[in-house]
Amino acid sequence: MTADHHLPFIRSLPKAELHLHIEGTLEPELMFELARRNGIALPYCSVEALRAAYRFDDLQSFLDLYYAGASVLLTESDFYDMTMAYMRRAHEDGVVHTEIMFDPQTHTARGVGMATVFAGIARALREAREELGITSYLLLSFLRHLSEEDAQHTLTQALPLREHYADLWVGIGLDSAERGNPPEKFARVYARACELGLRLVAHAGEEGPADYVRNALDVLKAERIDHGVNSEQDPALMQRLIDEQVPLTVCPLSNLKLCVVPTLNEHNLARMLRQGVLVTVNSDDPAYFGGYIAQNYAACAQALELEREELMQLARNSIVASFLPDADKHRWLTRLDEITV
Ligand code: ADE
Ligand code: ZN
Repeated sequence: MTADHHLPFIRSLPKAELHLHIEGTLEPELMFELARRNGIALPYCSVEALRAAYRFDDLQSFLDLYYAGASVLLTESDFYDMTMAYMRRAHEDGVVHTEIMFDPQTHTARGVGMATVFAGIARALREAREELGITSYLLLSFLRHLSEEDAQHTLTQALPLREHYADLWVGIGLDSAERGNPPEKFARVYARACELGLRLVAHAGEEGPADYVRNALDVLKAERIDHGVNSEQDPALMQRLIDEQVPLTVCPLSNLKLCVVPTLNEHNLARMLRQGVLVTVNSDDPAYFGGYIAQNYAACAQALELEREELMQLARNSIVASFLPDADKHRWLTRLDEITV
């Protein structure tokens, strides 16, 4: 039996995608199309050659390609097309709600306006809400290899747009190269965002140690941890995650492609789920890692022998861990309870 055999059941489960970088959904075909449209030269002769380059040794080797790929995004329509393509794909996988990260610094550093980035992404998300019935929130993510001052400036640039995007922009995140860029580096910008009533998430414990997860919780006051798989290095932290039901947005195919785990069979997702950690399954950068959300669930079902009840629990966790209002959570959880395994 192959992983694909699990797909129909997985797609039937209403679920939320909580760890997704919109720039990581840019498929090679669209990248070439946008490069052509914008007169930008790509250092690959074909879609196939570009896809063949997607072999990574670690997070940094991926980030180098990912930031280069994002250089084709210039206009409002580029951000719209990329986002709409993702929303259609997510809809096929049974996603009913998304909380999408975007990296404004990747674009503003190239002279693309903050307003352009927001406008294109938001137009697609609002259209997807109307046409596909998928709700979305946006998490503005800071690049942690840059300074805190740069993050502060980015937040300042975005704040005048807040009212216009109040239906979408709910929080902030922290991504990019983890090692050597600990959570503490961003303590002040997180405190400011918290004061402003923004929700707080942060990548931690992907390549970095369990200590980064603890400091993301204690120093940044993150409400949810992106990845967090290295928490297992510290049993006391693990117990805390269970006691406080801190959500971890785990991305199994990403972890495999970035060599965070040698094989999917050795991934700790099932172990954490069975211990009562509030783990969720997500796709991170699906255009680069070879699978959207349902494929992430299916690959884990296959490699980790997840039961249908456990796949349901992962979908339930995704709703519980979302920033949706309680009434919406209740509605989706009721729908999940009606599905027979
Ligand atoms: N940006 C996009 N994907 C990322 C990941 N997996 N870790 C850190 N930063 C990222
Ligand atoms: Zn990520």
